[in-house]
Parts: sequence; C-alpha cells; structure tokens
Amino acid sequence: MSRTSKMRVVVLVSGGGTNLQALIDAVKQGEIPDTELVAVISNNAGAYALTRAEQAGIPGICLSPKNFETRALFNEELKRVIDSYQPDLIVLAGCLLQIPSALVEAYPNRIMNIHPALIPAFCGKSYYGLKVHEAALARGVKVSGATVHFVNAELDAGPIILQKAVEVREDDTPETLQKRIMVEAEWKLLPEAVKLAAEGRLSVDEKNHVHIVDAL
Ligand code: GRF
Repeated sequence: MSRTSKMRVVVLVSGGGTNLQALIDAVKQGEIPDTELVAVISNNAGAYALTRAEQAGIPGICLSPKNFETRALFNEELKRVIDSYQPDLIVLAGCLLQIPSALVEAYPNRIMNIHPALIPAFCGKSYYGLKVHEAALARGVKVSGATVHFVNAELDAGPIILQKAVEVREDDTPETLQKRIMVEAEWKLLPEAVKLAAEGRLSVDEKNHVHIVDAL
C-alpha cells in the first residue's frame, strides 16, 4: 500500500468492541502511524462498539440485514456504504456478519479479521464467540491464542498475518480463556497488524503466505 495521505480504515463490528477500542487507543497514541478510523459499521444496533465509536468521534453506522428484504439487497448496501468511505483497509473487529463475496473481490488482501484461536484450529463455520473457547477446552489443548488474517472467499482461511499463543490453564472456563486471549493476544495483535499495513510492510506471495517486509 503506497499512499501520501493517511491510511483510511473502516471497522466492522457486532458486539462489545474491545478490539475496536484497542485500535482507537493505538491510533490516538500514535502507535499506529498515519491512520484514520473513518467509520464503524455494526450489524447490531445495540452493539456497545457503536458507543465507543461515538465517544471517539468516529461516524457509527448501523446496517442490519433484518432491515432489508433480501440478503442480496443488504450486501449491496453494505458495499455501497463501505465504498463511500474509500477505505484503504477494512478491519473486522468482532464482526459476526458473513462478508459478501463482492466485497472480498473488491478489496483483495485489504480486509483483516481477528479470530480468537490459533488458525487452523477451532475456526470456520460455527466457531465464533464463546464456542471457540468451549471447543478448545473440550479438546484439552494446552495453548490457544489469536490469529489476524486477511479475508478471502473461504471462512477463516485467508493469508495469516500474525498469531500469538496463550497458555490454557487447568481451571479455565470458556469465559476466563476468552478474556486471557483478548488481553494477552487480541488487543495487541490487531493494532500491530494494522500498524504493519499502515507502514506498507505486508506482502502476500503467490502461495498466500504473508511476509513482513522492511519499511521503504
Ligand atoms: C473477539 O474475541 C474476536 O476475536 C471475535 O469476537 C470477539 C469480539 O470482541 N471475533 P469485541 O467486540 O472486540 O470486544
């Protein structure tokens, strides 16, 4: 990504927005350079993430599939709204929406997602929210963690940008494991990945492997 102005980021959310908050704070503190969070879009009107956006002075938009006659019409409007902000990068920060293929095609390796497990473990269809951590505990893994990846046509299968392992403890519940993964991995990894994008340091090769290159 080479640009002379700030990197424009649209963030898609569905819930509490703690990952969004990590991005807001990192941009504000200058840890992510030359970046502007230009809009936050939620499919859920009650998402606390929208309040976080408002408090940070970022336009918050609610777009719910429930308010559209068909999924196709919703998908069209979602793309139209995102396009209107001319983003360099789209970040899915706890976004439960299925991303329309037209959007993936329009923004190749420019949509990032954070997943609360070490992909390819505990990912794909039906692995979202606490279910991810329930599955990790049921399998008895000794480490789990988080993954930031680019979004492609297949769910949770795009090029992996960053991963961080987090210890699983004997007495963990899905809730305690979820919290530790957020604190120790997600809230650090997502700002770090966006920073690398802002610095133009992410390159994806023909095998869909991500390389972190030196800044120009
Ligand atoms: C996070 O665990 C994220 O990895 C997952 O959904 C959760 C969202 O949390 N995709 P928040 O809304 O950022 O607090």
